[in-house]
Amino acid sequence: MTGFQREKEELCCDGVSLLRIAREVGTPFYVYSRALIEESFRRFDAAFAGSPHLVCYAMKANGNLAIVKALGALGAGVDVVSGGELRAAMEAGITADRIVFSGVGKTDKEIQLGAELGILAFNVESERELAKIDEIAGMLGRTARVALRVNPDIDSGSHPYIATGLKHNKFGIDVATARRLAEQAGRLSHVRLTGLQAHIGSQILEPSPLAETASSLAALANELIAAGLPLETLDLGGGVGVGETEEKSLSPEAYAAAVRVPLAGLSQPLRILIEPGRSIVARAGALVARVLYLKESLGKHFVVTDAAMNDLLRPALYAASHPIEPVVPRGAPFVADIVGPVCETGDFFVRDGAIQRPDEGDLLAIKNAGAYGFAMSSNYNFRPRAAEVLVESGSFRVVRRRETYDDLVRLERE
Ligand code: LLP
Repeated sequence: MTGFQREKEELCCDGVSLLRIAREVGTPFYVYSRALIEESFRRFDAAFAGSPHLVCYAMKANGNLAIVKALGALGAGVDVVSGGELRAAMEAGITADRIVFSGVGKTDKEIQLGAELGILAFNVESERELAKIDEIAGMLGRTARVALRVNPDIDSGSHPYIATGLKHNKFGIDVATARRLAEQAGRLSHVRLTGLQAHIGSQILEPSPLAETASSLAALANELIAAGLPLETLDLGGGVGVGETEEKSLSPEAYAAAVRVPLAGLSQPLRILIEPGRSIVARAGALVARVLYLKESLGKHFVVTDAAMNDLLRPALYAASHPIEPVVPRGAPFVADIVGPVCETGDFFVRDGAIQRPDEGDLLAIKNAGAYGFAMSSNYNFRPRAAEVLVESGSFRVVRRRETYDDLVRLERE
């Protein structure tokens, strides 16, 4: 069994004691199961095994080099959204032919970097970006491979902040404009249109909007192929959702089965790219925090931990719910807010949650935090960012050390 399981009473990660990690590394820390990350990747890879494909892990979900490197070793590509991610991907050994670059605001410098490396595709989000890539690639004497990111105007059903496929969202190009730009790309000498892409949002728990997106992309691809454009790839984006439990999540197999039907309608076989982020890493990670204080105020209970919203922003930003469990359960269940030390009322992990009453000094595991947890952490309140720990082959290692107070002031000038 991989991931977070109890051994006797204690919650462990792949059999490794969280109490022991806390003793050696301090708290708060993120801990990841390498085995579960690899298993999730392999499930996506196997689910698409029937056709040529590449799983491009969306490294914004968790860009830790050890994780990207482990996935790269299994053959993963990556979806990057910044020059920083591009650099980190290269550092982790991902070759340029396995990198796609998404995002509405690529800078000249980022385009230059991608064009010099010769990445698999720039996912182009506007007419101006297409012209810019042509111009920069031309200056470098290169031809850049581009895919048009289509905005299919499909409701992903996700939180409005992470829904990206509706026509009023800033992302992608509407279908009519995509037709025109595809034709226009043929007249540019330093870009080569090799594919279409769409990403309609994140945390999608129903397969139907993703199937609809695949259908819309396949229909446009068929039109372009019929018009003589030599397309090579169809990129379905990411978005596969993770629920509180595995049963409540959209499985890689159910996702693949849902998109297989529209993809079967392609007039010629294309290489299928997918960009899952959350579904590869979310369940494989937990944020482990120590209880600093129990506090009661007029009948209301608070559990104050040493982790805060700067470590895990998702509850504050999206009202996201993360299951929280004591590492070693002891007390009777009670209802409390679990909060951090940051000076904001929005600094909570759960409000009025039912949890076994911990004691001061106990550890709590905030689960499903492997995606967009550390990645969105900050130094707010001048708090050093937490350590990251990878559990592999029955032991653990620190894959990002805890920041120190020196780190916090290092870049400042008085
Ligand atoms: N591809 C593109 C172009 C994306 O923008 C994203 C995520 C992905 C793939 C991966 O999506 P996933 O498979 O992880 O759903 N911070 C938010 C999620 C933001 C997602 C942004 N884009 C959260 O914590 O829920």
